[in-house]
Amino acid sequence: MDFLKDAALPQSLEHFHLIVLIAAINSLLFVPFLTFLLGSSVLSYLFDRKEKKDNNPSYNKLAKAVIDVALYNKSVIAFLGIIPGMSLVFIYAQMLQSTGSISVGLAGFGFLSLVVALVLLYTYKYTFRVQGLLDVVGDNKANGDVDDYRRTNTSVHIRTGKWGLFFLIVAVFLYSSAMSVTTNPSSWTDIGSIFDVLISADVWLKFISFLVFSLGITGVGILYFFFAYKDRKPDMDEQLTALVHKIAKRFVVISMLVLPALVLLNVFTLSIDVLSGTIYLLAGLTLVFLFLAAHFLYGYFKQGEVKAVGYGFFFFLCAAASLIINDHVMIGNATKEHAALLGLKYEKTTEELKLKLGVAMVVMTGEDIYNAKCSACHVFDQKKVGPPYNETIPKYNGDKAKIIAFVLNPSKINPAYPPMPNQGLKPAEADSIVSYLLNRIGK
Ligand code: HEC
Repeated sequence: MDFLKDAALPQSLEHFHLIVLIAAINSLLFVPFLTFLLGSSVLSYLFDRKEKKDNNPSYNKLAKAVIDVALYNKSVIAFLGIIPGMSLVFIYAQMLQSTGSISVGLAGFGFLSLVVALVLLYTYKYTFRVQGLLDVVGDNKANGDVDDYRRTNTSVHIRTGKWGLFFLIVAVFLYSSAMSVTTNPSSWTDIGSIFDVLISADVWLKFISFLVFSLGITGVGILYFFFAYKDRKPDMDEQLTALVHKIAKRFVVISMLVLPALVLLNVFTLSIDVLSGTIYLLAGLTLVFLFLAAHFLYGYFKQGEVKAVGYGFFFFLCAAASLIINDHVMIGNATKEHAALLGLKYEKTTEELKLKLGVAMVVMTGEDIYNAKCSACHVFDQKKVGPPYNETIPKYNGDKAKIIAFVLNPSKINPAYPPMPNQGLKPAEADSIVSYLLNRIGK
């Protein structure tokens, strides 16, 4: 899938921020759908198998209703699954161009698996319907054709269910590893093959988070879609209601106990360069939303007030949203340096282009910029508003990209000084001022 990265063009810094935002919006649609689909398919498949063994009609009804909800219709599949799933591949390609990161390949193959899974699971859902129809036709022994058809239908049903689930799990694994690798710049170079992916602790942490999240959203989701969402009540007898309650309760309890731990673990295992105050804030917010969801669902199980399910579902989705936004704040932080470099490349290419077209440019030298924009606060050997360059620049050990990233987007560093205001430089200007500074320091 590297050809996608090669096809991407460098973009300006503003454009880069926009891409991270679009990635967040895509994930907000995609991740809840994907995790709910995973949980529902597993449930449906298990109960479909169980029904064959125990011959309990509630199992069959549940298996059918649950996949009906998850793959509600083709528009839902397209708008929540296929379109955002595909966009993420292109977004990663644009975001991670000219890095060694294999996220694009992971997401790309994840997308292919997802498409296969969706086709198979849709057939699985469809064969469920046919099965229902054939059951209505009844055990008409006189009609061998119906029996034949029933047999073929059943075997297609079993196979599509099994393989659909398999490809879905593969898709979820690949997508979650793509997200994990993207958030973690050190893995852009360390993780070079699927083998490295399989032994990466970060990847497994992300995948397990996805699975636990699947349990939660499936538990809350089936409660909501079966009992609270008005138009779509499948015909629920007492037995089925009890069964759904039992499963949903189990799923919700497990995920509510484990998810907060995973949220915290995820924050505490982040590398220092990626951490920021916003990340703690959003992690805290996720915990609050989870707590509220748990609170309402507990109320529902205690008192049976259907409205509480709606609130529970709402707050669970809020928790999902803050988790996903947090992931993208991490991606934004993780790609800061890379974004500055791409911005620089972008300006260089546009400058070259303009030069070729004969459009004259006024280019400021590093020294000009220093005199115009920095010297009010910085000199080399003395404190002014900001620290002397002789003290701060050597800290970077000549890592130009890091200094450029700071100048383009200053963060709070030394408590003895006020924060540095953003000087609104273009990446190419930041490049020349930093070259000038490094030159003068003699590094
Ligand atoms: C309005 C005052 C002001 C201007 C103008 C200003 N800076 Fe700063 N700069 C600061 C302050 C204050 C700090 C200390 C920030 C901190 O430690 O949190 C700082 C810190 C720095 C640092 C050190 C960062 C570190 O890692 O400790 C660098 C490098 C820097 N500025 C570069 C520049 C450049 C290049 C320009 C001109 C384009 C510039 N500054 C313009 C106030 C300014």
